[in-house]
Amino acid sequence: MVNTFNQQFIVIVPAAGVGKRMLAACPKQYLKINNESILVHTVNRLLSHEKVAKIILALSDDDDYFAQTALVNNPDVIRVSGGEERVDSVLSGLRAVDETIFEWVLVHDAARPCVSHHDIDLLIERCLRQNTGGLLAAPVVDTIKQSDNTTAALQVADTIDRSQLWHALTPQMYKTSELKQAIEQAQAQGLAITDESSAIEQAGLPSLLVSASRENIKITRPEDLALAAFYLQQQIKKEDNTCA
Ligand code: C5P
Repeated sequence: MVNTFNQQFIVIVPAAGVGKRMLAACPKQYLKINNESILVHTVNRLLSHEKVAKIILALSDDDDYFAQTALVNNPDVIRVSGGEERVDSVLSGLRAVDETIFEWVLVHDAARPCVSHHDIDLLIERCLRQNTGGLLAAPVVDTIKQSDNTTAALQVADTIDRSQLWHALTPQMYKTSELKQAIEQAQAQGLAITDESSAIEQAGLPSLLVSASRENIKITRPEDLALAAFYLQQQIKKEDNTCA
């Protein structure tokens, strides 16, 4: 085990998206689960982790909802302006991190309120032990089909070997300066960046896959809300069952 006893981390939470696929009247991070917005659930889950010192929240400049949350008065939550794409929001957050204090940075989607402290611990421990950045991920369990888009009717073109396929989750954890440089470099080359890991990969740097719970879903479609509510409730029950 690496001794991370005193080390504190900063987490960037990109929360400037609108979440079109939720078909909701407000940005999806402000939809409520048990009377609290998804964003508040996510930030509270992160801040209640003993190793998380601060959150950098990337929000849209047009965000009218944040001011109504309790987070607005939390000194550990720093607000920055989000960008057009998720990566722009992350970069805006990275520019607000003092690298001399936080050598490492974690990035976590606002839309993933069910991440467990156990998985955050696993990620931090693995990355520090191997001195290499990485991400939480879950192995693909379904059989994966590739479609043939050349025909009018959608057809199967192939079945993909899933033995090496993983779902990329968050948090993703990298050295602050390396991640910033990797994103800036990829953007300068006009490369597509879907997550932090993809920028790191394009820079030719290694990235660890840390196997994590599938409960860490990204709320994307309307049906995900009920599932997230269920997981959150189960997680609270589990905590209640632990011995003092
Ligand atoms: O839309 P999707 O669920 O993939 O977005 C992932 C995360 O990135 C969400 O937390 C969303 O708010 C954030 N995001 C952002 N800035 C954007 C687009 C998405 O911070 N321009």
